[in-house]
Amino acid sequence: MKITYLGHASLLIETAGKKLIIDPFISGNPLIKDKLLPENIQADYILITHAHQDHVLDVETIAKANPEAKIISNFEIVTYYSKLGIEGHPMNHGGSWNFDFGRVTMVNAWHSSSFADGTYGGNPAGFVIESNNKSVYIAGDTGLTMDMKLIPLFTKLNLAVLPIGDNFTMGVESAVIAADFVECNQILGYHYDTFGYIEIDHEKAKEAFDKSGKELILLPLLNSIEI
Ligand code: NI
Ligand code: MN
Repeated sequence: MKITYLGHASLLIETAGKKLIIDPFISGNPLIKDKLLPENIQADYILITHAHQDHVLDVETIAKANPEAKIISNFEIVTYYSKLGIEGHPMNHGGSWNFDFGRVTMVNAWHSSSFADGTYGGNPAGFVIESNNKSVYIAGDTGLTMDMKLIPLFTKLNLAVLPIGDNFTMGVESAVIAADFVECNQILGYHYDTFGYIEIDHEKAKEAFDKSGKELILLPLLNSIEI
């Protein structure tokens, strides 16, 4: 599984010959909008954790450029996009489905979820993606929640992608505890630095994880890790 950081909470996951885009927010991100055009992104699937603008802004552009791409999200978000002619696979919390790239389980996130126009966006979620004998947890926007302890009951994670920017989501201190809850020592941080409320000190963040025997990876934009 190859994971590329597209800034903010946006990721590209390449696995089993498929391309998965997570929470595309490119054209509105001042840090990446000059480096990547959403219409140039190739995708087989678009996974959406919740309906906030900083997670769905470029969904329609990417779907238009990839007419075969399918959305994977909660029932309400899939219904919203199906009315715009974009096909999707609806899920809900606690459910799993075997796709052609692997298995996706929708897990709880403690946050909110509405579209920019106020339309109800269902409940926010995270995803566990199991593919090619690897397992990755994408937390979505969330605070620390005891529900995270349920994840190691059904999967052995190789990587946890956790928000660390604080204010709208967990900050670093809570994310260290979250990494314990999900029993994973390799963490990819996301949802930080994009705008003023969520700027972090990178070295301090890495130290905090290091102290508890964990590795925090902070990828430069458009850089990848292989798990
Ligand atoms: Ni959000
Ligand atoms: Mn967000």
